Amino acid sequence: MARHFAEKTLVVASHNAGKVREIKELLGDFGIETISAGDLNLPEPEETGETFKANAVLKAQAAATASGKPALADDSGLCVAALNGAPGIYSARWAGPQKDFDFAMEKVRLGLLEEGTLDTHAWFVCGLALAWPDGHVEYFEGRVDGELTWPPRGLKGFGYDPMFVPEGHEETFGEMDQGKKHAMSHRAHAFRQLVDACFKS
Ligand code: IMP
Repeated sequence: MARHFAEKTLVVASHNAGKVREIKELLGDFGIETISAGDLNLPEPEETGETFKANAVLKAQAAATASGKPALADDSGLCVAALNGAPGIYSARWAGPQKDFDFAMEKVRLGLLEEGTLDTHAWFVCGLALAWPDGHVEYFEGRVDGELTWPPRGLKGFGYDPMFVPEGHEETFGEMDQGKKHAMSHRAHAFRQLVDACFKS
């Protein structure tokens, strides 16, 4: 059984304003107040883990230890089957310091061409870690499978969305109504598990 979240305040271990807002909205329904790691001026730990789980856990534990409050962190990325799961935990880093995702998508496309494969299977992963100051951690992982397409399509969404067509659909995540994407995404799957296990009374 997962540990139930019985406190009133949760630290969101992210300095990304968009992510913090989304998590705030999701958890507001449960009467939970959220504060971001940025508001508390907490340092951002280096993502030295080799898995989504290791990175999410290290970020959540660093924020819980520094703030003395439970903290939630996520780590996510795109995994491409023919590239042995790359870019995976390096998804953000493939876009370089300019955060250029046209460049990152091109890199994925070139990787597939170099492999000489027709296998376009890929999946997004979202790992969520909830850590308490006493060291206890709960971890959940969500995934959405699909196929990569070229050229990229759609201006909605972010990151690798324009080249990803989720299974059973024809639109890319970049073309799709974002409410529809958020209902089926890797993040939605991970949050559903977290909420069911730790936030529902
Ligand atoms: P993180 O902020 O370290 O978890 O980096 C996650 C990276 O994975 C982002 O910068 C995106 O490149 C990619 N990513 C994660 N989730 C999505 C998504 O829903 N759509 C598109 N790209 C995503």
